[in-house]
Amino acid sequence: MMNADTVNARARIPDSCCFVIFGVTGDLAHRLVIPALYNLAEANLLPEKFCVIGVTRTETQSKTLKTELMSGLEKFATRPVKQDVADKLFGCLTAIHADPNDPQSFDALKAELKRVSEDGDITNHLFYLAVPPGAFKPISEALGKNGLLKESKGAWRRLVIEKPFGTDLQSARQLNADLIRLVNEHQIYRIDHYLGKETVQNILVLRFANGMFEPIWNRNHIDHIQITVAETLDVGRRGSFYEETGALRDMVPNHLFQLMALVAMEPPSRFDAHSVRSEKGEALAAIQLQSESEALRNSVRGQYLAGRIGDRQVGYYRQTKDVSPDSTIETYAALKLTIDNWRWAGVPFYLRTGKALAAKRTEVAIRFKQAPFSMFRTTEVERLSQNYLVIGIEPTEGVTLQFNTKVPGPQVTIDGVEMKFKYKDYFRASPNTGYETLLYDCMIGDNILFQRADGVEAGWAAVQPFLDAWKKAGAKGLAMYQAGTDGPEEAHELLERDGRRWRAIIGD
Ligand code: BG6
Repeated sequence: MMNADTVNARARIPDSCCFVIFGVTGDLAHRLVIPALYNLAEANLLPEKFCVIGVTRTETQSKTLKTELMSGLEKFATRPVKQDVADKLFGCLTAIHADPNDPQSFDALKAELKRVSEDGDITNHLFYLAVPPGAFKPISEALGKNGLLKESKGAWRRLVIEKPFGTDLQSARQLNADLIRLVNEHQIYRIDHYLGKETVQNILVLRFANGMFEPIWNRNHIDHIQITVAETLDVGRRGSFYEETGALRDMVPNHLFQLMALVAMEPPSRFDAHSVRSEKGEALAAIQLQSESEALRNSVRGQYLAGRIGDRQVGYYRQTKDVSPDSTIETYAALKLTIDNWRWAGVPFYLRTGKALAAKRTEVAIRFKQAPFSMFRTTEVERLSQNYLVIGIEPTEGVTLQFNTKVPGPQVTIDGVEMKFKYKDYFRASPNTGYETLLYDCMIGDNILFQRADGVEAGWAAVQPFLDAWKKAGAKGLAMYQAGTDGPEEAHELLERDGRRWRAIIGD
């Protein structure tokens, strides 16, 4: 992680490496991977000796691939494209055709890697799997069979895998078991793009680089925690993907649990990948596993009906292309979870995420306990504003503290106010894709921001009862909500039952 442990640390330049992209002509590579590599090139954070090998499914000329990647870059770059930087990035680009269904085709990749190693003295290889999940295993196996994942003579081999990592507990375990037969855990980089977000990384710094939060970061002072990832996006053209996935699988065991783990983890003894990932894994493993009936009681799943979001009309989910007209797939999920350990016993974590909601808002809100009584005669304790520490991820990155203050005037009247820190007021960051840190970390071999097998499995274990219970319930219990609102009414009831309420889903 750049500048992680020392203030103003000078960034390390990664070892020379060959960056092999499977799925190089796909959306992910065009929209995120190549623009992020470009930004790293511009910041002089690419290795001195660096080659990109684009693996294509059909025979493609390197020149053709370069032209295609260049036009993708012009479309998706987050900054104006400078020719000399693009030349640096694509200076040693080759297109190689390889298909795991045709094991022989990997010979060409092997030969190219050998050539680059002999001619260019580049012996380290990073394999980036920007491909659909069904291809993770066959590609990894083909690489393994060809001896391309074997580290020797100080040369490293790394395998970078995008989400989704499995579709339930069993498939995630299976994928982990399949990969571990081919590579060691330290060679696997499981990407969760949420960990590339500055404010998400900042949760660790906020908690552990400041002495004032830790003493109150526990069940004695915290009433509950709300984690919200609300999107205005609807399912759009992703109908067939979404019908297989749904909001829970798509967002919770990965993105929301990463946020939850960072908030809930114990302080690691060191800021290194082993310690941080162990503590995160422990926190996720301590989520109480619910029975199916508890899971039903402690969750709400919803599906959006037609509605308006701003000036955009959104159609009913079931009328989306590639969506079944009687689909029971959820586009909204809210869960109540608890963590069984001394720090968090009795503190509910309420998680919610949904598509086609009123606003794009991602935040972690820590609600502190209310003052025990009000000595101010004119304000009852229930009317005091709630003390929240809110870590804002979208739309504004920053931290807000809500507290009560006296309204000016002769009487003691109390009102809630906010103290706001916004990243953009203090730091000037060049616009980026959110993938730069992750790609840089893969190249310098720091897996602190990547998920380890135990963490992934602990996450799936916690959501499995919800998946099972919802599958059995089918249409029963599916709550409908109008697009452009803050989700189904039942989600409010989930908190009201506990005498609490959700924060509003509004833009800044
Ligand atoms: C992806 C999901 O992983 O995350 C999408 O597949 C979702 O459905 C996206 O829209 C949200 O990411 P962000 O960074 O916009 O909050």
